[in-house]
Amino acid sequence: MKFLFINGVNLNLTGIREKGVYGEQTLDEINAQIKAHFKDDECGFFQSNCEGEICTAIQTAKCDGIILNAGAYTHYSYAIRDAIASVATPVVEVHMSNVHSREQFRHTSVISEVCKGVICGFGKNSYILAAESFKL
Ligand code: DQA
Repeated sequence: MKFLFINGVNLNLTGIREKGVYGEQTLDEINAQIKAHFKDDECGFFQSNCEGEICTAIQTAKCDGIILNAGAYTHYSYAIRDAIASVATPVVEVHMSNVHSREQFRHTSVISEVCKGVICGFGKNSYILAAESFKL
């Protein structure tokens, strides 16, 4: 299968920021582990802090499934929500942390409704679990 892993705002600081929440590994290290796990599949990786660039990545993706950690945009970006709703490619929403055990504002996702499903709380393995779901 062909997957596109999209990481949004501040996810480039993974391994540097809030290590107790997001772990010690960098996004590049996590992506390398994802690639190794899906060695028989094609994995693309994209990260941006810019909402519009994330929308463009969703619009132009040519793959079987998108695994999206939109970061804080999850909680308020109607633009990303509309981009997901505009394409046929299924999107699974991902969070490394369990957003439901954190601050109240993280309990709201404006994108869940237009995603195929949601995985959260499993650290870097959230990405792998989300992509595996496309194979079921
Ligand atoms: C996050 C959770 C979001 O609330 C937060 O803004 C992030 C990361 C996660 O992976 O747990 O940047 O999406």
